[in-house]
Amino acid sequence: MSDPAAVQSLVEAVRNAPKYAAVDAGLVQALVEQELAKGRSVKETIKAVRNKLHQVGSAYQEKPIGYAQLTRQLTALSHDLHSPEIKAFCLAGMREHTSTRERLGFLEDFYRQPLAGLGPIHSLLDLACGLNPLALPWLPLAPNAQLFACDIYADMADFLNTFYAHTGVNGRAFTCDLIHHLPKQQVELALLLKTIPCLEQVDKSIGRRLLSSIQAEHMLISFPVHSLGGRGKGMRVNYDQHFRELIVDLPWQVTRFDFPGELVYRLSRV
Ligand SMILES: C[S@@+](CC[C@H](N)C(=O)[O-])C[C@H]1O[C@@H](n2cnc3c(N)ncnc32)[C@H](O)[C@@H]1O
Repeated sequence: MSDPAAVQSLVEAVRNAPKYAAVDAGLVQALVEQELAKGRSVKETIKAVRNKLHQVGSAYQEKPIGYAQLTRQLTALSHDLHSPEIKAFCLAGMREHTSTRERLGFLEDFYRQPLAGLGPIHSLLDLACGLNPLALPWLPLAPNAQLFACDIYADMADFLNTFYAHTGVNGRAFTCDLIHHLPKQQVELALLLKTIPCLEQVDKSIGRRLLSSIQAEHMLISFPVHSLGGRGKGMRVNYDQHFRELIVDLPWQVTRFDFPGELVYRLSRV
């Protein structure tokens, strides 16, 4: 058992770098404790935790996301979520996070095909959301649908809350650490996009835990079919096999959809 004051000072040291300053403190603390339990020194712990945070988060932000500039731009735009200027803003915003940028070439079909027959959706939880909440104009939502979105970054949550307020949608973004606390919201649709492999870098059991515990009537789960470096040999086949193992004996009816850069499953409660 580590000394709580020593753990706190390591958490602060890790978050002292601008790149990690906005990361959920609970996640940083859990990673610090994991490294200390392996007998690592202070210096090694800070380095190992920052490496892990890079792998699971910063790797998808090639440069710092320009939240201040995005917020300034947003202020001058229409409040209508479906106006052409807000849609153009959302597309530009989604370019700032690698994961959403990779999806832009097939965004329309990405939501239309797997969600066919489902809308209008009254409640939505976007887990490890990145900037995907900017895809709201492409989702079949009911008026005043209740929206939740979470990720490990406080500055991302602040920006998404500004976007929700500006467009008058009933949304709340917040920081979370899915490895250690699963959100409890009950929703019609949960999104868990390209996230299982990312979280498995910290905890191998997380995929099965999420698929068993998320309280949603339907889920969209997806896997990347290229690595961040652009290689993709066999990823579609391997992730399909992995997903089939994760879902064994769980009460979901599964439909598969193949997109050029992403393998998607729609899960509906049996
Ligand atoms: C591959 S990206 C997917 C982003 C988004 N779901 C999408 O598909 O556009 C993985 C996301 O998981 C987030 N993340 C990493 N570890 C997390 C954790 N423990 N809890 C919540 N989110 C986490 C990262 O910050 C990143 O935004």
